[in-house]
Amino acid sequence: MKKVIVWVSALLICSGLLGMTAFAQAPDRAVDKEGHQWWQHAVFYEIYPRSFADSNNDGVGDLKGIASKLDYLKDLGVDAIWISPCFPSPQVDFGYDVSDYENIDPMYGTLADFDVLASEARKRNIRIILDFVVNHSSDQHKWFLDSKSSRTSAHRDWYIWRDGKGPGQPPNNWASTFGGPAWKLDPTTNQYYYHYFYAEQPDLNWRNPAVKDAMFGIETWWYKRGVSGFRLDAVDTLFEDPKLQDNPILHPGTNAFGDPYEDNKNNTKLPEVHDVLRGLRKVADEHNAVLIGETWTTDVAELNQYYGDGNNELQLPMDFLFTMVNKLSPAEFRKQIAAVNGASGWPTFVISNHDIVRSYDRYGDGEHNDQIAKVMAALYLTLRGTPIMYYGEEIGMKTTPPTSKEEVKDPIGRTGWPKEKGRDGERTPMQWDGTANAGFSKAAPWLPVPPTYETHNVAAELKDHNSVLEFYRKVLKLRHDNTALLDGNYKAINETDDNVLSYLRIYKDHGTVVALNMTNAPQKISIGLKGNGFASVKSLLATEKSVATGDDVSLEPYGVFIGELSQ
Ligand code: NOJ
Repeated sequence: MKKVIVWVSALLICSGLLGMTAFAQAPDRAVDKEGHQWWQHAVFYEIYPRSFADSNNDGVGDLKGIASKLDYLKDLGVDAIWISPCFPSPQVDFGYDVSDYENIDPMYGTLADFDVLASEARKRNIRIILDFVVNHSSDQHKWFLDSKSSRTSAHRDWYIWRDGKGPGQPPNNWASTFGGPAWKLDPTTNQYYYHYFYAEQPDLNWRNPAVKDAMFGIETWWYKRGVSGFRLDAVDTLFEDPKLQDNPILHPGTNAFGDPYEDNKNNTKLPEVHDVLRGLRKVADEHNAVLIGETWTTDVAELNQYYGDGNNELQLPMDFLFTMVNKLSPAEFRKQIAAVNGASGWPTFVISNHDIVRSYDRYGDGEHNDQIAKVMAALYLTLRGTPIMYYGEEIGMKTTPPTSKEEVKDPIGRTGWPKEKGRDGERTPMQWDGTANAGFSKAAPWLPVPPTYETHNVAAELKDHNSVLEFYRKVLKLRHDNTALLDGNYKAINETDDNVLSYLRIYKDHGTVVALNMTNAPQKISIGLKGNGFASVKSLLATEKSVATGDDVSLEPYGVFIGELSQ
């Protein structure tokens, strides 16, 4: 009997070990002729797992659901998926409150499901990026439960505990970015703990080496399980001023939560963040992995800090400067593209994600939204850099915010109502087809499906050669095949044109021109073929009435023209 138990345990241990290594990423360090690495040519696609595809019909998406859509993603032209947090979590912030970093929330499946997803993705050459919530854990994580249990507990110093300034007064004036004070008094030990986000998301104390070791261990654990990198959540907020000095108040008035406008100089963007990023990067490099950062930079100087001296921090700090351009303005885009091109690392372009109003609504005029969605796709998918798409963007999904406070699921939408309606609007279920619940689930989805699912869904758009989806598929195909788009420099042309954004991508003798009409009227531009060393142009992808004749390109309202230049 004893023998059998030993044998079975050995088998279990072996299969566990196999599970850990079977899908480990084989180091694929191939670079192209320009020395570009896999993440520089890859198209990334963010999946909000609650809302992508529901395999067990409980109204919430899951890992098996994602696995069932891998062929769709491959066909679309996606090379890597970033899955927003799918770890065990009380779901106060829908997964951004992690209670176990080395497991999968049962709502999404199991570790075995993750392994199947990883292996199926690998078969299709799709990499998996996970969301690493490094700033805070859930208040239900065993580390925090121990930390709060007594002032002398083993994990006490894993979080930030302080006495109040006086009775009923928190240690300082810092406000949570999700509203209210950033400190919560815990009655067990009568001290306050710090939380930059919700009170259920206590900040980890990165000044404690044990925290650093634990988090680095988690990073490696997932690499061994086959992930190809991480999107690092909220990296700005890892460190706080050790003296906990008050933040200055910027100007009078209050925000949507009724808090003063403060300058977060003492609790965000502290220089120590960069030591951590350098450390995480070192481990990433050992696994040929990529680090994407949620970096809310205000200018290129800040962006450069996240690349690090000698590019030894984040390979892909997200360029949110681009998402700050909220109108179709060639001049504004030109400015941001030039700035990011002049930065010290490889550009990363994002137009939508789970925290911001979808690009379809930010740029759309209400009448030509589909055309404008194509203009935006042609823009950020033909630039020099790595694009990160957001699920549903490719079918023209619309932001559909709740219409009453009672409907709101995202807690900030309840505390900030009506000024802040929360982020439910950009997290609605993926629209797969025109059947009930848009084919997302057979059960009522956790968020309502927007009415636009009848016209904007994958099945219908695959049949319509003029759809937003078909346009995305074509641009993505071009982006993977066209040498100038892959490796070429960016060169702005017609730089004073207020209506059309146009540029060249040039690699040696290969050239591609992109012309985007950002107005509701026909427009014309000149390419300047001769001056740029080319003789002629041939259309590669254009909207219906956009054509090149000689050196000129005529564009219909919101027209797109992408053409190959020949010498
Ligand atoms: C940034 C994430 O994108 C957001 O969704 C989340 O609420 C906060 N970080 C807190 O983790």
